[in-house]
Amino acid sequence: MTYKNKIAKVLSLSTAVLFSAGLTVMAEAKTFKVAVGDAGGSPQHELGKKFAEAFKEKTGGKHKAKLFLNGQLGSEQDTVNDAAIGSLDFSILAINNITPFSPTVGVFTLPYVIQSLDEAVELTQGEVGQELVENTVRDAGVRIIGWTYSGFRVLSNSKKPIKSVEDLQGVVVRVPKNEIMIDTYKSWGVNPTPMAWSETFTALQQRVVDAQDNPYMTIHSMKFYEVQDYITNLRYIFSIEPLIVSEAVFQDQKPAIQKAILEAGKEATQHSAQFLRDSEAAIKKDLAAKGMQIHDPVNGEKEFIDRATQAVWPKFYDSIGGKDKLNRVLRLLGRSEV
Ligand code: MLT
Repeated sequence: MTYKNKIAKVLSLSTAVLFSAGLTVMAEAKTFKVAVGDAGGSPQHELGKKFAEAFKEKTGGKHKAKLFLNGQLGSEQDTVNDAAIGSLDFSILAINNITPFSPTVGVFTLPYVIQSLDEAVELTQGEVGQELVENTVRDAGVRIIGWTYSGFRVLSNSKKPIKSVEDLQGVVVRVPKNEIMIDTYKSWGVNPTPMAWSETFTALQQRVVDAQDNPYMTIHSMKFYEVQDYITNLRYIFSIEPLIVSEAVFQDQKPAIQKAILEAGKEATQHSAQFLRDSEAAIKKDLAAKGMQIHDPVNGEKEFIDRATQAVWPKFYDSIGGKDKLNRVLRLLGRSEV
């Protein structure tokens, strides 16, 4: 081979090596998809933004997480299935929409168990939360890596002020497809309408249903004030909305990326608690300014509490892993066991 030919061969080999190295780098950089059930400005969105920012920073800008708001990637329950089979990377969704796939998380959806943001933080970030993370990987093929704190679910409706169980009779209430929530309304004498979150605004607008419950922050970001006039401060569930990653996708990542995912999830969780503390009061005020009438239930909600805890808790002991699981939570929160 002549010198000229040798140089040409070396050059072409080096180009091939550089080209394929470049392709490897390009192939490794990834934009992960994050499904978000709620609209911009919601606690889910706020947690998602913080997660995406922290994840990008922790991977030196190489990997990104892109948010798809407003249920663009499917109903919240569908995103659990999609993540389980690895066709979706991440999703942020209400915990009540994970319960059908991993029943033990239902302990956080039992009515009147969690009574403040501090209790929600203590439970999710402690041993109970860790156990539920493991159960959800086992049962549903998704891993909870962050927790959104969205505030108490309050009841909104388009018909009339509701202050008592009696007022609620005859009102058509949309609930998530969640047995615990369905049975809670039944304990109040109402047969609710289970419906996917993604269909709820239209159903309220078209008066297919009169009422629904979700936190102030969600009611505000979803613009429910355009189709609902009244709010009742029911406070029966403190809304927790996990950030989940597909376990298949997670296990496919190198340890450094897994670490970045977990750390970004933790940072986003801290941010979410602060966001709720900073924003909820102003959001409630704005809902009133937009014309919503806000009422407290009579007698400090006693009749709602008594009926729901007596009828619903015992019915779900088995699905949450036994009565002991509820008692452990109550003990941790300094309350009497059942
Ligand atoms: C639901 O009501 O299905 C959810 O709580 C909605 C949400 O994710 O905000």
